[in-house]
Amino acid sequence: MANVAIIGAQWGDEGKGKIVDLFTHDADIIVRFQGGNNAGHTLVVDGKKTVLHLVPSGALHPGKLCVIGNGVVVDPEVLLKEIAGLKQNGWLLDDASLRISEEAHLIMPYHKAIDQARERLRGEGMIGTTGRGIGPAYEDKVARIGIRFIDLLEEETFQEKLRRNIEEKNIYLKAILKEKALDFDKIHDRYSGYREKLKTYVTDTGLLLDREMRAGKRVLFEGAQGTLLDVDHGTYPFVTSSNTVAGGVSSGTGVGPRHIHQVIGISKAYTTRVGSGPFPTELHGSEGEILKREGIEFGATTGRPRRCGWFDAVAVRHAVRISGITGLALTKLDVLTGFKKIPICVAYRYDGKLHEEFPASIRAMQSAQPILEEMDGWDTPLTAVRRFSDLPANAQKYVRRIEKILETEVILVSVGPDREQTVMLKNPFEARQ
Ligand code: IMP
Repeated sequence: MANVAIIGAQWGDEGKGKIVDLFTHDADIIVRFQGGNNAGHTLVVDGKKTVLHLVPSGALHPGKLCVIGNGVVVDPEVLLKEIAGLKQNGWLLDDASLRISEEAHLIMPYHKAIDQARERLRGEGMIGTTGRGIGPAYEDKVARIGIRFIDLLEEETFQEKLRRNIEEKNIYLKAILKEKALDFDKIHDRYSGYREKLKTYVTDTGLLLDREMRAGKRVLFEGAQGTLLDVDHGTYPFVTSSNTVAGGVSSGTGVGPRHIHQVIGISKAYTTRVGSGPFPTELHGSEGEILKREGIEFGATTGRPRRCGWFDAVAVRHAVRISGITGLALTKLDVLTGFKKIPICVAYRYDGKLHEEFPASIRAMQSAQPILEEMDGWDTPLTAVRRFSDLPANAQKYVRRIEKILETEVILVSVGPDREQTVMLKNPFEARQ
């Protein structure tokens, strides 16, 4: 039996929540390894919608262990709210079913203040961040001044780090960002309260995962955001601040790469993006509006409308290579019903030439014109389809064409938000290691 990583293959919002939830049946442990509450994983169980921002999607299955790995940045206020909400609905009743890495970094009030103030000052050039303090929290981690859960648990260390950081951040907030200074005592008291409520969950999760895997437990690593938002391999600087690719699993959990046996890339059957940044297949007219309306394309975290466009095979092929994707889950195929022609972007044109590979240059990406290959559409609704052979012939052709261009097998097609609205072709947990 395999351990499986689930990774976004586009700009996030690919429908990872549903796929993780589906495969959670086959896993014992579900682990988040990067990002924070910039993510919003929507799960629909028996028609009831739950949006999770920090707790791994396994929380909606009794008996599963949920782990927040060291690579995640955690806003304790948001986490506590999420835990309380889950408990109210009868989930996560056993505190032992959630574990937080002692090495995970905390999002502090100054991270949020800096994130939001910077975006305001950037004006037109804004990244369109979620404003949750994600970038500034990762900056502090890399600058070696971040506050980890283990630091929060040690009062003296916490006080020392917090005092030093607040002193420095207040200078930056006041002089550069023209914001108000933050108060040490207030933050110290608030976070001391969080410590009392969260300490029961904090442990060495790398060690825990090692022990569990040795005991034969199967692990599902739950990615957040998507490959094209990866800080190294995405459309930099219009990216998030973590490694969203499969490589991030090891550094973000303390589990060596040889324990990741399958990498499932999740991609919509078209493309969406929230926030700023290049998007070569973006549709600005009525077709984009149809995708937005039919796909209900509004952010799960911020409620912002998502930009919509055709499937970009150049971008997803890049994701397949960077993350070593072994199988693709294609979501929201049902949304494409009704289009006469469905284009797929197979290359970009910029600088007067055709390019099949994803460029590092933001200028190249901004000027890239998509080279489109048109597929015939279908009219029959797909939401009740459960077997691949029951899909309309043109929908089957569309999926097969994507497989061919990406040289990657499609292992699942999703035709609606509910768990049941799924065409399963292959279970990655049953793949040979
Ligand atoms: P940040 O992660 O809040 O710093 O935002 C950086 C960029 O990543 C922005 O364009 C956000 O819209 C985007 N982003 C962050 N998290 C998500 C997500 O979960 N889904 C889609 N886009 C995201």
